[in-house]
Amino acid sequence: MKVLKAVAPASLIRFEKISKTYQMGEILVHALREVDFEVKLGEMVAIMGASGSGKSTMLNLLGTLDRPTSGHYFLEDEPIENLDEYELSALRNRKIGFVFQSFNLLPRDNALENVELPMIYAGQSTTARRKKAERALERVGLADRMDHLPNQLSGGQQQRVSIARAIVNEPRMLLADEPTGALDSATTQQVMELFCELHKQGMTVILVTHDPSIAEYAERVVRFKDGVIQSDETKGKHAEDSDRARVRDVSERNSAG
Ligand SMILES: Nc1ncnc2c1ncn2[C@@H]1O[C@H](COP(=O)(O)OP(=O)(O)OP(=O)(O)O)[C@@H](O)[C@H]1O
Ligand SMILES: [Mg+2]
Repeated sequence: MKVLKAVAPASLIRFEKISKTYQMGEILVHALREVDFEVKLGEMVAIMGASGSGKSTMLNLLGTLDRPTSGHYFLEDEPIENLDEYELSALRNRKIGFVFQSFNLLPRDNALENVELPMIYAGQSTTARRKKAERALERVGLADRMDHLPNQLSGGQQQRVSIARAIVNEPRMLLADEPTGALDSATTQQVMELFCELHKQGMTVILVTHDPSIAEYAERVVRFKDGVIQSDETKGKHAEDSDRARVRDVSERNSAG
């Protein structure tokens, strides 16, 4: 008898007609309008668009930090709208890593302690925690900076600590809002290479950026305008499509021949 293998979910993330509206006194602000969006496991996506177009709102919803006004969010094919706050934060802690422009490190904790933080919430033993935090810091190239406080680290190093913190629970996806916004260009390149490396190792990466040269690192670029997706382009997609068309051409000719 054949045994059915467990199949990986087709999509990691699926948004169906997601809207987010903010009430500001008398005025309704439509930050997102009926957005359909899907991300497959292992993709690297850049989200671009003008200031106020809805990028951070999108990222916060993707990260379950905020709830949509309407629409449906499926994470690994499971709807998440029925989860309560406790279930949601447990899911977030396990499956999603966050990186912010301003690093958000605790100033009185050294690099190692900052990276251990998500595991304290996850309730792991002290030794297990320490080992995993050390490994995460090694992965981001900071093995020799573990006992430095944030203010004893450069901007790029601080961002690498925050990336180590984001990956320490081995989440499925990494969400980053303007992760290089506070860095100079040389440091930006190092941090982007780190994201690419993690992506190569199988991590799904979604990052918001204003900077076209940052978006270059991603294979897919999604552009927002006034709360809707204006374009969604995958690099090499045209080449692939025309390859497929050529194959079809040849096979049609053969069968006609
Ligand atoms: N908490 C809030 N309350 C009211 N309006 C909000 C709130 N958060 C965002 N908005 C509005 O929603 C819209 C989208 O905001 P969002 O922060 O997603 O933009 P963004 O694309 O990230 O912009 P930026 O590039 O400047 O960071 C904006 O018009 C903003 O003013
Ligand atoms: Mg923003």
